[in-house]
Amino acid sequence: MAVLGGLEAFDKNLLKSDALHQYILETSVYPREHEQLKELREVSEKHIMGIMSVPPEEGQLLSILLKTMNAKKTLEIGVFTGYSLLTTALALPKDGKITAIDVDKSNYDIGLPFIQKAGVEDKIDFIESEAMPLLDKMLQEIDGDDLYDFAFVDADKENYSEYHERLIKLVRVGGIIAYDNTLWFGSVAGSVEPGFPMQALEIRDFLVKLNKSLASDPRIEISQVCIGDGLTLCRRIS
Ligand SMILES: C[S@@+](CC[C@H](N)C(=O)[O-])C[C@H]1O[C@@H](n2cnc3c(N)ncnc32)[C@H](O)[C@@H]1O
Repeated sequence: MAVLGGLEAFDKNLLKSDALHQYILETSVYPREHEQLKELREVSEKHIMGIMSVPPEEGQLLSILLKTMNAKKTLEIGVFTGYSLLTTALALPKDGKITAIDVDKSNYDIGLPFIQKAGVEDKIDFIESEAMPLLDKMLQEIDGDDLYDFAFVDADKENYSEYHERLIKLVRVGGIIAYDNTLWFGSVAGSVEPGFPMQALEIRDFLVKLNKSLASDPRIEISQVCIGDGLTLCRRIS
Protein backbone atom coordinates (compact mmCIF):
# COMPACT_ATOMS: atom_id res chain seq x y z
CA MET A 1 0.00 0.00 0.00
CA ALA A 2 1.49 3.30 -1.09
CA VAL A 3 0.43 5.12 2.05
CA LEU A 4 2.59 2.78 4.14
CA GLY A 5 5.60 3.03 1.82
CA GLY A 6 8.83 3.61 3.69
CA LEU A 7 7.52 2.29 7.01
CA GLU A 8 9.29 -1.02 6.34
CA ALA A 9 12.44 0.51 7.79
CA PHE A 10 10.79 1.10 11.16
CA ASP A 11 9.81 -1.41 13.79
CA LYS A 12 6.90 -1.06 16.13
CA ASN A 13 8.91 -1.07 19.33
CA LEU A 14 8.25 2.56 20.12
CA LEU A 15 9.68 3.00 23.56
CA LYS A 16 13.34 3.60 22.87
CA SER A 17 14.16 6.62 24.92
CA ASP A 18 13.95 7.99 28.44
CA ALA A 19 12.57 11.18 26.95
CA LEU A 20 9.66 9.27 25.41
CA HIS A 21 9.01 7.50 28.72
CA GLN A 22 9.01 10.85 30.52
CA TYR A 23 6.67 12.26 27.88
CA ILE A 24 4.18 9.42 28.48
CA LEU A 25 4.36 9.90 32.24
CA GLU A 26 3.91 13.65 32.10
CA THR A 27 1.25 13.67 29.38
CA SER A 28 -0.93 10.67 30.17
CA VAL A 29 -0.05 9.17 33.52
CA TYR A 30 0.80 11.72 36.24
CA PRO A 31 -2.12 14.05 35.47
CA ARG A 32 -4.58 11.15 35.95
CA GLU A 33 -2.92 9.49 38.93
CA HIS A 34 -5.08 9.31 42.08
CA GLU A 35 -3.79 11.65 44.81
CA GLN A 36 -3.08 8.81 47.26
CA LEU A 37 -1.32 6.78 44.58
CA LYS A 38 0.88 9.77 43.85
CA GLU A 39 1.70 10.21 47.53
CA LEU A 40 2.37 6.49 47.96
CA ARG A 41 4.57 6.48 44.85
CA GLU A 42 6.62 9.38 46.16
CA VAL A 43 7.13 7.72 49.54
CA SER A 44 7.96 4.37 47.93
CA GLU A 45 10.53 5.99 45.61
CA LYS A 46 12.51 6.99 48.70
CA HIS A 47 12.49 3.42 50.04
CA ILE A 48 15.78 1.58 49.61
CA MET A 49 13.89 -1.06 47.58
CA GLY A 50 11.72 1.51 45.82
CA ILE A 51 12.47 -0.04 42.42
CA MET A 52 10.10 -2.85 43.41
CA SER A 53 6.95 -0.74 43.03
CA VAL A 54 4.88 -1.19 39.92
CA PRO A 55 5.44 1.88 37.71
CA PRO A 56 2.45 4.21 37.43
CA GLU A 57 1.88 3.68 33.70
CA GLU A 58 1.52 -0.04 34.41
CA GLY A 59 -0.84 0.71 37.29
CA GLN A 60 -2.95 2.74 34.86
CA LEU A 61 -3.17 -0.22 32.48
CA LEU A 62 -4.09 -2.63 35.28
CA SER A 63 -6.81 -0.26 36.43
CA ILE A 64 -8.45 -0.10 33.02
CA LEU A 65 -8.18 -3.86 32.64
CA LEU A 66 -9.82 -4.52 36.02
CA LYS A 67 -12.66 -2.10 35.29
CA THR A 68 -13.22 -3.42 31.78
CA MET A 69 -13.51 -7.00 32.98
CA ASN A 70 -15.72 -5.98 35.94
CA ALA A 71 -13.35 -7.74 38.32
CA LYS A 72 -14.71 -8.09 41.86
CA LYS A 73 -12.53 -10.71 43.45
CA THR A 74 -8.77 -10.55 42.99
CA LEU A 75 -5.57 -12.00 44.33
CA GLU A 76 -2.26 -10.21 44.69
CA ILE A 77 1.03 -11.97 45.36
CA GLY A 78 3.76 -9.50 46.33
CA VAL A 79 2.53 -6.29 47.92
CA PHE A 80 5.61 -4.32 49.05
CA THR A 81 4.30 -0.81 49.95
CA GLY A 82 1.13 -1.43 47.95
CA TYR A 83 1.18 0.65 44.76
CA SER A 84 -0.40 -2.11 42.64
CA LEU A 85 -2.63 -3.07 45.57
CA LEU A 86 -4.00 0.46 45.99
CA THR A 87 -4.42 0.71 42.21
CA THR A 88 -6.47 -2.48 42.30
CA ALA A 89 -8.51 -1.42 45.32
CA LEU A 90 -9.40 1.87 43.60
CA ALA A 91 -10.41 0.04 40.42
CA LEU A 92 -12.71 -2.52 42.07
CA PRO A 93 -16.35 -1.76 42.86
CA LYS A 94 -17.46 -1.00 46.45
CA ASP A 95 -18.09 -4.68 47.20
CA GLY A 96 -14.82 -5.79 45.57
CA LYS A 97 -12.38 -7.94 47.55
CA ILE A 98 -8.63 -8.42 47.24
CA THR A 99 -6.65 -11.14 48.96
CA ALA A 100 -3.16 -9.64 49.21
CA ILE A 101 -0.24 -11.86 50.19
CA ASP A 102 3.26 -10.85 51.19
CA VAL A 103 5.81 -12.61 53.32
CA ASP A 104 6.76 -9.28 54.93
CA LYS A 105 4.12 -6.93 56.35
CA SER A 106 6.48 -4.11 57.29
CA ASN A 107 6.36 -2.45 53.87
CA TYR A 108 2.58 -2.82 53.65
CA ASP A 109 2.45 -0.84 56.90
CA ILE A 110 4.18 2.05 55.07
CA GLY A 111 1.47 2.04 52.41
CA LEU A 112 -1.51 1.41 54.68
CA PRO A 113 -2.12 5.08 55.67
CA PHE A 114 -2.48 5.97 51.97
CA ILE A 115 -4.87 3.06 51.44
CA GLN A 116 -6.90 4.21 54.44
CA LYS A 117 -6.93 7.82 53.26
CA ALA A 118 -8.20 6.62 49.87
CA GLY A 119 -11.06 4.87 51.71
CA VAL A 120 -10.49 1.41 50.26
CA GLU A 121 -9.00 -0.53 53.18
CA ASP A 122 -12.18 -2.57 53.63
CA LYS A 123 -11.67 -4.17 50.21
CA ILE A 124 -8.31 -5.63 51.27
CA ASP A 125 -7.58 -8.80 53.18
CA PHE A 126 -3.80 -8.66 53.73
CA ILE A 127 -2.19 -11.95 54.71
CA GLU A 128 1.41 -12.07 55.87
CA SER A 129 2.62 -15.40 54.55
CA GLU A 130 4.75 -17.24 52.09
CA ALA A 131 2.52 -17.40 49.02
CA MET A 132 2.95 -21.06 48.06
CA PRO A 133 1.54 -22.78 51.18
CA LEU A 134 -1.29 -20.27 51.25
CA LEU A 135 -2.21 -20.94 47.62
CA ASP A 136 -2.17 -24.67 48.39
CA LYS A 137 -4.52 -24.08 51.31
CA MET A 138 -6.80 -21.95 49.13
CA LEU A 139 -6.91 -24.72 46.55
CA GLN A 140 -8.19 -27.14 49.16
CA GLU A 141 -10.84 -24.74 50.41
CA ILE A 142 -12.03 -22.86 47.33
CA ASP A 143 -15.57 -23.21 46.06
CA GLY A 144 -15.57 -23.82 42.29
CA ASP A 145 -18.32 -21.21 41.86
CA ASP A 146 -16.36 -18.54 43.68
CA LEU A 147 -13.05 -18.40 41.86
CA TYR A 148 -10.94 -15.25 41.42
CA ASP A 149 -11.48 -12.88 38.49
CA PHE A 150 -7.91 -11.66 38.44
CA ALA A 151 -4.53 -12.43 39.97
CA PHE A 152 -1.50 -10.17 39.93
CA VAL A 153 1.82 -11.88 40.56
CA ASP A 154 4.76 -9.68 41.51
CA ALA A 155 6.86 -11.64 44.01
CA ASP A 156 9.62 -14.29 43.88
CA LYS A 157 10.13 -14.76 40.13
CA GLU A 158 11.75 -18.18 40.54
CA ASN A 159 8.40 -19.53 41.72
CA TYR A 160 6.19 -18.03 39.01
CA SER A 161 5.86 -21.39 37.18
CA GLU A 162 4.75 -23.08 40.39
CA TYR A 163 2.34 -20.24 41.13
CA HIS A 164 0.93 -20.64 37.63
CA GLU A 165 -0.08 -24.26 38.26
CA ARG A 166 -2.04 -23.14 41.31
CA LEU A 167 -3.48 -19.93 39.89
CA ILE A 168 -4.82 -21.66 36.81
CA LYS A 169 -7.18 -23.47 39.22
CA LEU A 170 -7.93 -20.48 41.45
CA VAL A 171 -8.79 -18.00 38.66
CA ARG A 172 -12.04 -18.56 36.76
CA VAL A 173 -12.22 -19.36 33.05
CA GLY A 174 -12.23 -15.95 31.36
CA GLY A 175 -10.28 -14.44 34.23
CA ILE A 176 -6.76 -13.05 34.00
CA ILE A 177 -3.47 -13.95 35.64
CA ALA A 178 -0.92 -11.16 35.21
CA TYR A 179 2.79 -11.79 35.74
CA ASP A 180 5.04 -8.81 36.32
CA ASN A 181 8.70 -8.39 35.32
CA THR A 182 8.59 -10.99 32.56
CA LEU A 183 11.07 -9.05 30.40
CA TRP A 184 13.44 -8.68 33.38
CA PHE A 185 15.31 -5.50 32.44
CA GLY A 186 15.41 -6.72 28.85
CA SER A 187 17.70 -9.59 29.84
CA VAL A 188 15.36 -12.37 28.64
CA ALA A 189 16.41 -11.62 25.05
CA GLY A 190 19.96 -12.73 25.83
CA SER A 191 22.30 -9.81 26.17
CA VAL A 192 22.67 -8.02 29.48
CA GLU A 193 24.19 -4.71 30.44
CA PRO A 194 27.70 -4.91 31.92
CA GLY A 195 27.44 -5.30 35.69
CA PHE A 196 24.06 -7.05 35.59
CA PRO A 197 24.04 -8.92 38.95
CA MET A 198 24.67 -12.67 38.99
CA GLN A 199 21.58 -13.36 41.11
CA ALA A 200 19.46 -11.42 38.62
CA LEU A 201 20.88 -13.59 35.85
CA GLU A 202 19.66 -16.70 37.66
CA ILE A 203 16.19 -15.16 37.91
CA ARG A 204 16.41 -14.34 34.20
CA ASP A 205 16.73 -18.06 33.48
CA PHE A 206 13.53 -18.82 35.42
CA LEU A 207 11.68 -16.09 33.51
CA VAL A 208 12.95 -17.30 30.13
CA LYS A 209 11.55 -20.76 30.98
CA LEU A 210 8.30 -19.26 32.22
CA ASN A 211 7.81 -17.15 29.07
CA LYS A 212 8.37 -20.21 26.92
CA SER A 213 5.96 -22.36 28.88
CA LEU A 214 3.25 -19.67 29.01
CA ALA A 215 3.55 -19.26 25.24
CA SER A 216 2.72 -22.95 24.72
CA ASP A 217 0.18 -23.39 27.52
CA PRO A 218 -3.13 -24.39 25.88
CA ARG A 219 -5.12 -23.42 29.00
CA ILE A 220 -4.51 -19.72 28.42
CA GLU A 221 -4.19 -17.08 25.76
CA ILE A 222 -1.47 -14.54 26.39
CA SER A 223 -0.25 -11.08 25.61
CA GLN A 224 3.28 -10.00 26.44
CA VAL A 225 2.87 -6.32 27.21
CA CYS A 226 5.96 -4.16 26.83
CA ILE A 227 5.28 -1.86 29.76
CA GLY A 228 7.37 -1.31 32.86
CA ASP A 229 9.58 -4.36 33.18
CA GLY A 230 7.27 -6.50 31.04
CA LEU A 231 3.80 -7.69 31.98
CA THR A 232 2.37 -10.97 30.72
CA LEU A 233 -1.40 -11.15 30.66
CA CYS A 234 -2.79 -14.69 30.65
CA ARG A 235 -6.51 -15.17 30.05
CA ARG A 236 -7.70 -18.55 31.24
CA ILE A 237 -9.59 -20.33 28.46
CA SER A 238 -9.93 -23.83 29.94
C1 LIG B 1 8.32 -6.44 43.59
S1 LIG B 1 7.70 -6.41 45.20
C2 LIG B 1 5.97 -6.14 44.97
C3 LIG B 1 5.68 -4.75 44.48
C4 LIG B 1 4.23 -4.36 44.51
N1 LIG B 1 3.45 -5.10 43.57
C5 LIG B 1 4.07 -2.87 44.30
O1 LIG B 1 3.45 -2.44 43.32
O2 LIG B 1 4.61 -2.12 45.12
C6 LIG B 1 7.82 -8.09 45.67
C7 LIG B 1 7.22 -8.45 47.02
O3 LIG B 1 7.08 -9.87 47.06
C8 LIG B 1 7.28 -10.30 48.38
N2 LIG B 1 7.65 -11.72 48.33
C9 LIG B 1 8.83 -12.25 47.90
N3 LIG B 1 8.79 -13.59 48.00
C10 LIG B 1 7.57 -13.91 48.47
C11 LIG B 1 6.93 -15.15 48.78
N4 LIG B 1 7.55 -16.31 48.60
N5 LIG B 1 5.67 -15.11 49.26
C12 LIG B 1 5.03 -13.92 49.44
N6 LIG B 1 5.59 -12.73 49.17
C13 LIG B 1 6.84 -12.72 48.70
C14 LIG B 1 8.37 -9.38 48.91
O4 LIG B 1 8.31 -9.34 50.33
C15 LIG B 1 8.04 -8.07 48.23
O5 LIG B 1 7.31 -7.22 49.08
